[in-house]
Amino acid sequence: MELPWVEKYRPKSLREIVGNNQIIAEMKKWAMEWDKGNIQKPLILVGKPGCGKTTAAKALANDMHWGVIELNASDVRNEENIKRIAMVGAVNETFTDEGEFISSKRGGRKLIIFDEADNLYEGKDDRGGKKAIVETIKVSKQPIILIGNDYYSIVSGTWGAKLRSMCKVLKFRALTNAQMIKILSRICKAEGIVCDRAVLDMIAGKADGDLRAAINDLQAVAQGKKVVKITDVKSIGLRDEKSEIYSATMVTLRTEHFKHAKEIMRNLDETPDFVMLWLEENLPLEYQELDDLVRGYEYISKADVYLGRVMKRQQYALWGYAMDMLAGVSVAKKEKYKKHPFRYNFPTWLRNMSKSKEARNRRESVSAKVGRIYHTSPGKVKENILPHFRVLYDLNPELRALYTYVLHFDRDEIEYLTKKDAEKILKDAQKIGEEIEKRGEGGSS
Ligand SMILES: Nc1ncnc2c1ncn2[C@@H]1O[C@H](COP(=O)(O)OP(=O)(O)OP(=O)(O)O)[C@@H](O)[C@H]1O
Ligand SMILES: [Mg+2]
Repeated sequence: MELPWVEKYRPKSLREIVGNNQIIAEMKKWAMEWDKGNIQKPLILVGKPGCGKTTAAKALANDMHWGVIELNASDVRNEENIKRIAMVGAVNETFTDEGEFISSKRGGRKLIIFDEADNLYEGKDDRGGKKAIVETIKVSKQPIILIGNDYYSIVSGTWGAKLRSMCKVLKFRALTNAQMIKILSRICKAEGIVCDRAVLDMIAGKADGDLRAAINDLQAVAQGKKVVKITDVKSIGLRDEKSEIYSATMVTLRTEHFKHAKEIMRNLDETPDFVMLWLEENLPLEYQELDDLVRGYEYISKADVYLGRVMKRQQYALWGYAMDMLAGVSVAKKEKYKKHPFRYNFPTWLRNMSKSKEARNRRESVSAKVGRIYHTSPGKVKENILPHFRVLYDLNPELRALYTYVLHFDRDEIEYLTKKDAEKILKDAQKIGEEIEKRGEGGSS
């Protein structure tokens, strides 16, 4: 399987980053001060998706020959992680990812990156992610960068306000169409592809400053071609029944032979996250037995866990395992179904691969919320709880309304959990909320 182009062409050095020159220069200056031994305020990088925040942070570390500790919203809820980082900072020494000790005098500085910092819940108890970050900042003697799309979510609340006063904000601008086209052209050249200018214009226009989306779209239209014409663009996200992914979904859901599903998955020229979304969407159309459904979702959740590791640690060798887990959905059913759905759905909100990040975000936010009632980490939720939770949520209207109210599920999250009418669920949740509040008032008077 080919590396996604967004990874293949991710700049390794700040010099390769296009746009936001002033901000890049500031980051560089900040890092130089660190290397002179002057402790600096942590940075908060904010800006729209796909404008290069994560890339810039990692490129900076690379340029400075610093190591990187990267944490996202779900890691921050894991106490062990926090302790480990706090310790690394407190002693001003550092460890490699394998746990090998490096003295900072030997240049062993580590950049701590808190990505998705706008996805943190404050938390009523000590488990709040922001509090953990504030405390890490207080003891750490290592450079720290927080990243997020929405500045106000990062600095909201008590602990958010502390973050605001402790950090320096750098606002990234979304790339202009001209800048995006420059990068897309560069990629075409590197891939030996001749692409109509009109195609690049169209892709850039559609991406609205999100370079990740633009690069993914380019890869989708250029797949297997040496010449790309404007007529090819119509194919972005509009694959139909004849597509490979469609038949792979069908085979996996219908066959009883793991080997068969596995072979199809392994030969599929798609990334596991894309395949996962297809299976997730269509599993309930095919599997009618509850047990089968739960087991099916379990396989998908396991694939998701592997995939998380692939993304975080860039271990592309694990892609195969993720695919095997997805193939496992085939044997989640006790026996073959005789009745099949009329057709499978293209995940409606997944019009192209670039949106798969959005789907991951929903899974993350739902898991984080569910984790609060089960008192466990989103990672554990995804692995063990979510498959059951989902079926329960889908089947039981009272629980559905109650959970929606208690966990403040929004429309996106509801649509992630069930195909049932989100509007109605929100109304039911509101009704239950009002009842509970009324009861609460009655009790206290
Ligand atoms: N300024 C840039 N110059 C060159 N390539 C870029 C730039 N910005 C983004 N890219 C490309 O787009 C991809 C996505 O960028 P990145 O992951 O840094 O976005 P982000 O700002 O962190 O987005 P998000 O908020 O969604 O995490 C990168 O892998 C890289 O290929
Ligand atoms: Mg990012």
